Amino acid sequence: MDLKQKYNLLEERNKLAEEGGGNERIDKQHSAGKKTARERIQLLLDPGTFNETDKLVTHRNTDFGMENKKILGDGLIAGYGKINGRLVYVFAQDFTVFGGTLSRANADKIVKIQELALKMGAPVIGLNDSGGARIQEGVESLAGYADIFYNNVISSGVIPQISAILGPCAGGAVYSPALTDFIFMVKETSHMFVTGPEVIKAVTHEDVTKEDLGGAVTHSTKSGVAHFTGKDETQTIMMVRELMSFLPSNNLEDPPVKASTDPIDRMEESLQEIVPADPNKPYDMKNIIEIVIDDKHFLEVQPHYAQNIIVGFARFAGKPVGIVANQPNHLAGVLDINSSIKAARFVRFCDAFNLPLITFVDVPGFLPGTNQELGGIIKHGAKLLYAFSEATVSKITIITRKAYGGAYDVMSSKHIGADVNLAFPTAEIAVMGPEGAVNIIHRNALSNEEKTRAVEEYRDKFANPYKAASLGYIDEIINPKYTRKKIIAALEMTHNKRKSNPPKKHGNIPL
Ligand code: HXC
Repeated sequence: MDLKQKYNLLEERNKLAEEGGGNERIDKQHSAGKKTARERIQLLLDPGTFNETDKLVTHRNTDFGMENKKILGDGLIAGYGKINGRLVYVFAQDFTVFGGTLSRANADKIVKIQELALKMGAPVIGLNDSGGARIQEGVESLAGYADIFYNNVISSGVIPQISAILGPCAGGAVYSPALTDFIFMVKETSHMFVTGPEVIKAVTHEDVTKEDLGGAVTHSTKSGVAHFTGKDETQTIMMVRELMSFLPSNNLEDPPVKASTDPIDRMEESLQEIVPADPNKPYDMKNIIEIVIDDKHFLEVQPHYAQNIIVGFARFAGKPVGIVANQPNHLAGVLDINSSIKAARFVRFCDAFNLPLITFVDVPGFLPGTNQELGGIIKHGAKLLYAFSEATVSKITIITRKAYGGAYDVMSSKHIGADVNLAFPTAEIAVMGPEGAVNIIHRNALSNEEKTRAVEEYRDKFANPYKAASLGYIDEIINPKYTRKKIIAALEMTHNKRKSNPPKKHGNIPL
């Protein structure tokens, strides 16, 4: 072979690999409203930064005539590139090749990427679109999955791991995404389930559509499996890029600072009006969040699930933080099973990746009821208590109104390690609300008139921040208009915080 032939051979092999499953299947992919794996990677990464690994890998299966069906790359594109100039590792399943299914060979490609990412301390982003285990390969495919799961677990808390579900994701294939930090889905074209509608029909006789069982709406509103949902692939992939802008590359780095022109001492008079005078009137906590953060830029996580708690990313003076906030506009901001789990997982993510936690509190307590008790609110509520207690990042808490009962303790109180605890003058910090307290203290011994007076007396005495402030549980009662300035000062003050928990193998969070 002369030199020219050698170069031609390389070009030919590369071209073959890039054709994937061929034009017909690519057209089918496009007409289903989906992009190809390569198009997705191009969208995700900064232009011209993608370096592909294992482009010429093929499967090694010789059963079911597979020895005659080999496609370079074997249905998976893997490699590394940059997002906003920062290194990330990426893999994308190519549905046009054997339905993007997992073979031993292409599992090894993912494993290689995961190991490199862990060694170099950079995030892994998986773009999933696959029929699951490649049936022709049997247990070898299962072994490939298990290797990927194992690496997901070992990398957890060391590097961010992100999954975008851009097509089917069935069987054990859902468990790698479930082990990663955030799951993105696309409306209508992506699905996740352990067993599909046909199996469910056969086993439980239930009729359910693919969409109702595992579509983006289901997982972002009912199951809580998905964290972000895009209306199409382009929007979804742009959301992945946006999320990355808040995250450090690994657990030893600080999150990336973005230059901000939003004044650090910006004062907002309107904050004095947001919390209503009537303690039973709802208001939208998102209004407070958006006013105080940089440029109103809030990336909310799970915005449609357990809406009684708000979690998401924002910046103060350019520095990323995690925000946790009760939402009085939904179920009065009560803590229940789903909101406790949602917030606990978010708090642990922020703690693992050095994102300070800013907590806004307006919580009437834990939700009473047999559903909650029998569903295990004791252990699920304890998850949030555990997560806030073990978190060693800067913790800054602002009580805007109610902080009642156990929920006061849970919501990043001074007692479980918050560094700065602030309260609005509208704060009510007590064991329970005035009406409930009077009913218990006085039982039925009071006339209506006496009861009204007792409620007023209790409200004056306890439903305010002054008792907590007199005990040093609240560091400062602030005029709400200064909230932004106070938070930024607290973040600066805690910037060099050094705190670690006693060495241990790992804790035992109440799962
Ligand atoms: C081998 C598969 C395959 C599989 C799909 N294909 N799934 N090949 N193993 N698991 C192939 C098809 O034969 C077809 O090949 C191509 O991929 C595209 O599939 P279609 O069926 O034509 O596409 P579509 O109609 O869009 O349906 C996609 C689908 C469906 C919903 C994913 O293919 C499907 O239900 N597949 C089976 C899913 C499944 O049960 N997987 C195993 C899960 S168990 P050609 O050559 O015609 O293009 C599992 C265990 C893991 O994953 C456990 C880990 C712990």
